[in-house]
Amino acid sequence: MLGISVKEFLLWKRKQLSKGGDKQTFAVLLDCMGGLSSSDINLITINPQGILHLKKNLEYLESVWDDHLLRSCPIQYLLGITFWRDLKLKVTNKVLIPRPETELIVDIVFNIFRRKSEKLFFAELGTGSGAISIALALAYPLSEGAATDINKDALEIATKNYLNSSTQSNLKFYCGNWWSPLENFKGKLDFAISNPPYIPKDTYEKLPKEVKNFEPKVALLGGEDGLKHIREIIQKAPLYLKEKGWLILENHFDQGEKVKQLLIKNKFTSIEIVKDLSGIGRFTIGRYK
Ligand SMILES: C[S@@+](CC[C@H](N)C(=O)[O-])C[C@H]1O[C@@H](n2cnc3c(N)ncnc32)[C@H](O)[C@@H]1O
Repeated sequence: MLGISVKEFLLWKRKQLSKGGDKQTFAVLLDCMGGLSSSDINLITINPQGILHLKKNLEYLESVWDDHLLRSCPIQYLLGITFWRDLKLKVTNKVLIPRPETELIVDIVFNIFRRKSEKLFFAELGTGSGAISIALALAYPLSEGAATDINKDALEIATKNYLNSSTQSNLKFYCGNWWSPLENFKGKLDFAISNPPYIPKDTYEKLPKEVKNFEPKVALLGGEDGLKHIREIIQKAPLYLKEKGWLILENHFDQGEKVKQLLIKNKFTSIEIVKDLSGIGRFTIGRYK
């Protein structure tokens, strides 16, 4: 731990924020790399004459901040970690940084399956960092989960995240195209969940550089109209779900109605478009018959 005067620290902090970037991202850097949380900072400000302790020196923290500002590299990749729900997850540029709006997909499951002691059988298609599956496996300890991804590097990270977050063994990881690694689970799933790549090609080309230059294309691009993967997932879902099993999908902000029509065409019932906290129809859910 490196001791530094509060006064010097506050001047340095002001200088860093004057270069650009946002306060929240800077707070994440101080917390994860400096070991100084926002509440620590609020406390020390009361006593500018005091001394505070940092895990890294100011020069080092400044170099990471400059790197973030100059290259627009997401701070989560520079730090190698992100926070999602109550999980602390390792992330590299091989996985999408799990988004705050995706956190709600877990609450959708909680609303459908209210008893945490249920023995459910679930699958997540395209697990990335493992965020959704890990949250579910922890919340339903008697359940069995299968998380798939086409990207081996992502699965390696998801497996590490699971081992770091849990002492349970109710989640397994499989590599392959959407449903294909789940042949053994045909007709057995209580629910399947996916946040697949759904960005239409034109939109992908115009994404902000902090996304397009750093996050994996395979995690974002959903073909010409964005629905390529969602179509495939919906068409094959009936083979894998139990009777009355649920399919829970995240989609792009304007795809809810189209996903609903795809579900109707494939004989799903109880279809609902669920809004996120910004009022956007971000999730579409349905039951197979
Ligand atoms: C939008 S990311 C979601 C990651 C994570 N579930 C989350 O919500 O943060 C989509 C994931 O689907 C995976 N993926 C893309 N194409 C796939 C395919 N054909 N089969 C299986 N997984 C695929 C990507 O590697 C990526 O991890």
